[in-house]
Amino acid sequence: MISLGINYSEMHDSSACIARDGHVLFAVAEERLSRLKHDARFPSLSIEACLASAGVRADQLDFVCFGWQPAIEALKHDLKCMATGSLPLNYVDLVSTLRRNLSATRKHNGKNQFLARFPTKAQFRFVEHHLAHAISAYSYSGFDDAAVLVLDGRGAWEASSLWHGRDGRLEHVWTIPWPNSLGLFYAQFTQYLGFQPYSDEWKVMGLAPYGEPGINLREFIIPDDDPYKVSTRLLLGDGPAPLAGITARLGPQREAESEIDPKHKNIAFAVQDACEEAMMTLARAAIGKTGTRNLCLAGGVALNSKANGKILSSDIVDRIFVQPAAGDDGVCLGAALAPYLDNGGKLPMHRMRHAYLGSANSDEEIEKTLRTYKLKITRVADPAAAAAEMLADGKILGWFQGRMEFGPRALGSRSILADPRDPEMNAKVNNAVKFREWWRPFAPSILAEMADEYIESATDSPFMILTAQVKLEKRSVIPSVTHVDGSARPQTVEHDVNPLYWHLIREFGDRTGVPVIMNTSFNLRGEPIVCTPTDAVRTFFSSGMDALVMGSFVVEK
Ligand SMILES: [Fe+2]
Repeated sequence: MISLGINYSEMHDSSACIARDGHVLFAVAEERLSRLKHDARFPSLSIEACLASAGVRADQLDFVCFGWQPAIEALKHDLKCMATGSLPLNYVDLVSTLRRNLSATRKHNGKNQFLARFPTKAQFRFVEHHLAHAISAYSYSGFDDAAVLVLDGRGAWEASSLWHGRDGRLEHVWTIPWPNSLGLFYAQFTQYLGFQPYSDEWKVMGLAPYGEPGINLREFIIPDDDPYKVSTRLLLGDGPAPLAGITARLGPQREAESEIDPKHKNIAFAVQDACEEAMMTLARAAIGKTGTRNLCLAGGVALNSKANGKILSSDIVDRIFVQPAAGDDGVCLGAALAPYLDNGGKLPMHRMRHAYLGSANSDEEIEKTLRTYKLKITRVADPAAAAAEMLADGKILGWFQGRMEFGPRALGSRSILADPRDPEMNAKVNNAVKFREWWRPFAPSILAEMADEYIESATDSPFMILTAQVKLEKRSVIPSVTHVDGSARPQTVEHDVNPLYWHLIREFGDRTGVPVIMNTSFNLRGEPIVCTPTDAVRTFFSSGMDALVMGSFVVEK
């Protein structure tokens, strides 16, 4: 059975994946191919890439599965919320919501667009959004029995939902309807703090540890009221301005790119703290209701690595699996498998050990690109050792190897790498390469077998989606990947999962005594992560990186 999964909502992060007999062969977000960050358009390029990679034509597909139901459901829900008063009648997005939903309904959530480009007799499925998220967490978790929490801004009408995964099946337990939404709460404050909502929540999470406790947000959210309650009318603004409820209580909105003052830091602290408490409350409720101590998470709110780490280090759960593409790009992974649930069927259960699901380039292709640009190149026998040598010399590297990652994190395929021992490296990479906000932390890649030397209660963390504490005595050893509160967002690298990247870290460790590398995504601020060798060359020469290691080739400036 060949199944294509698609995320297409006209909101953000369109994507596609292809699965054969329950195994995902390829997955990519449209932004990587179109070079438009968070691209929300119909993912034609991703679909083409999926088909090409699997070597199949559209007419060979058995299923085409979208991770959304026809948008009329969302529209009906919004109208009901306005009638019952949980949404303000003058809800500012109403007109655009109506327009978007009606146009999406006309297009039947992408079916016609699909057929216009890819003629097929495949069956079309429109999978409930939260079910697609839930499958994307449970089916790839490796847990037979698990509580599955889906937390996002909104699906059609859902904001948070709990599912019980057992023996390859998912039982729906409860749903908290939109607009009582943790994602909405976080997004509104992200916007209030001068960032892009449903995109820049990382920035608030990174800023939070610089703040002090003291700001009370209980008017906006009660995080511990089993499970949580957000004050929708206040968050959405009861007047013409969408943030009126917040500005009336906390003062004017921060202007984008303006100074960050202590009040902004304190608000970020309070927002993150409330989100963590709400997620802990939800996790407790999920475990209590299902009676299992395995937890799976998906949905954009599950990208909150700080809260995930807190849940894991609590005594609420034994094991946790956060699907690395927890945001809507990852919905395609769940949608593609939904047909397996037909007629009481079971999901394929394959533990996801890596996210290298995208495209790769051969040395021949890489060399051709480098020669096109007439670059001076060196072919090396051991790119990992060559890279380790340069990193130990303090150089900042572009590292382009193997299949591109799926999901928001670079995990050693499309990464910028640097020496984590240099306390100035954070600022150097930020100023010369990433051009991003000073407070955003960088993450360490660490040999899995050495993780417990550096990380408190180290566990497998292959996806940089669980924050943990760096051991006190190691904080000065790897200062540029230790956040201000002593935390880090580690990637533990196993030899059999990514031998080349493991080898690089090992080589760096042999030279320096520290088997840890600073790893950030290979992109410039505001751009998607690089996909092709051409993207890599362009980004390399638009930044302060010292060298580019791509396949077996090294380019130096
Ligand atoms: Fe979602």
